[in-house]
Amino acid sequence: MSRIADHPVDPLFTNRWSPRSFTGEPVPDTVLRTAFEAARWAPSGMNAQPWRFLVTRPDDAWWGTYLGLLMPRNRLWAAKASALILILSARELERRGERVPNSSHSFDAGAAWANFAHQALLLGWHTHGIGGFDREAARARLNISQDFSIEAIIALGRKGELEGLDPEFHGSEAPNGRRPLDETVFAGTLDSPAFAEERDAA
Ligand SMILES: Cc1cc2nc3c(=O)[nH]c(=O)nc-3n(C[C@H](O)[C@H](O)[C@H](O)COP(=O)(O)O)c2cc1C
Repeated sequence: MSRIADHPVDPLFTNRWSPRSFTGEPVPDTVLRTAFEAARWAPSGMNAQPWRFLVTRPDDAWWGTYLGLLMPRNRLWAAKASALILILSARELERRGERVPNSSHSFDAGAAWANFAHQALLLGWHTHGIGGFDREAARARLNISQDFSIEAIIALGRKGELEGLDPEFHGSEAPNGRRPLDETVFAGTLDSPAFAEERDAA
C-alpha cells in the first residue's frame, strides 16, 4: 500500500515509514556517515546542535547491551536491525561563557532525527524510532550524565520480507496514515482550522 498525500509533497516524505521487517544486512560506514551528516545540518536554537548519537552494530561489543534496553516486544523485531542509535540531547548550552538551560534541546534533536531518517531512506535504508526502552538502565549502563536527556533509540536497516518478521507484527507491517491538516493546523488559536478550503471540504 502506498500513501497518498492530501496536498502535493515530495515523495520522500510519504515514502519514509517505519518497517519492522529488517534483513540484518550490515550497514556500511558510508551510509551512516552520510545520514549523520544530514542530521548534522539540522537547525537548532542558537545553533547549539544539542544532539548526540550513540551507535552500535551487531558485530560490536555494545549491541547486546543496547538490545537489552529494549522492551521485549521491540526487541523481537529490532534484533534484526543493522544499527541501533541512541539519541541524546544536551540540556544546556553556552551563552556568553555561561551554561544556561536550552529550552529547545529535544525539539532540535527531533529535527536532526528527521534529517537522518530521510537521508537514510534516500540511500535505501529504513529507520524505525523506538521510545519503548529502559531509559534509567540506558543512563546507568552507558554512563550518560544528567547533562543529557535520553530521547529515543532508532533502529536502522534494510527492509526485508514479511516471512522474516515475527507473525505478531505482520498485521501492522504497512505504511500508516495521518490526521488531516484541518485537525492539525489552526488559525491563530486552536479554535478553528487555518485553511478555509479544509473547512469547506469537511
Ligand atoms: C520517538 C518515537 C518513538 C517510537 N517508539 C516506538 C516503539 O517503541 N515501538 C514501535 O514499534 N514503534 C515506535 N515508533 C514508531 C511509530 O509508531 C511510528 O513512527 C508512527 O506510527 C508513524 O508511522 P511511520 O513512521 O511508519 O510513518 C516510535 C516512533 C518515534 C518517532
